[in-house]
Amino acid sequence: MPVLLFLGDIVGQETIDLIAWRLGKIRTKLGVDWVVVNAENSANGSGLSPAQFRKLRDSGVDGITLGDHALRKREISKILDNETTICRPANFPPGAPGKGWAEAKSPAGKPLRIATVLGRTFTKPVDCPFVALDKILQGPGDGPWLVDIHAEATGEKILMGHWLDGRVAAALGTHTHVVTADEGILPKGTAFQTDVGMSGPSKGVLGRKYESILPTVLTGVQHPYDLARGNIVLCGALVGINQDTCLAESISRVFIPLE
Ligand SMILES: [Fe+2]
Ligand SMILES: [Fe+2]
Repeated sequence: MPVLLFLGDIVGQETIDLIAWRLGKIRTKLGVDWVVVNAENSANGSGLSPAQFRKLRDSGVDGITLGDHALRKREISKILDNETTICRPANFPPGAPGKGWAEAKSPAGKPLRIATVLGRTFTKPVDCPFVALDKILQGPGDGPWLVDIHAEATGEKILMGHWLDGRVAAALGTHTHVVTADEGILPKGTAFQTDVGMSGPSKGVLGRKYESILPTVLTGVQHPYDLARGNIVLCGALVGINQDTCLAESISRVFIPLE
């Protein structure tokens, strides 16, 4: 049974460097066919640089999703337009660079289609994620689907999980950087988890240094939010997918301390 490893929001270059060093062994140990990561916080906490995209790809990451920080690094636009393994949120404005879905091929050539959408509760205004996904899921391509639900509100994510049930192999939440303990298979066969958590420095505040956030909160004067360092943990989900039905047979939480 093909197995998907999906890692939540990657924070910082330090995490990317450790993934590059360790992913081969993790793949073998977990028996993974596809590795997909949400890389929206890679570039010092916001966005993804072209060099980071290449490093993740060359390390064996098969597909990349992004989130509300997708376009923070302008220079990623060409990669979003030209590369087939990375997608930005499907419900961005129509003029946004890149595509709303991508294809992650396993090393053996098995296709997996991936998409991400942004929620609309407690976040900046975006197009309707349901309409955007409806269009994409009827589109071309082969293989099962992973939908990354990048949203703040738990209720909105759970609602979307049920709406996607039976249509995609996995509907997995990202963005809050905090793991939820509700992973499971929905009635029609979709693996769901409200949030798979963050892949990054685990002792900070959602990946940022506590001491660098506090002055802004206490004084109202904006200070730079530095990234936390060390204690890197990969958080994600491991999903077993039935190749005939393109639906899920298993899901488990993944928590891998890297240092
Ligand atoms: Fe986000
Ligand atoms: Fe994030």
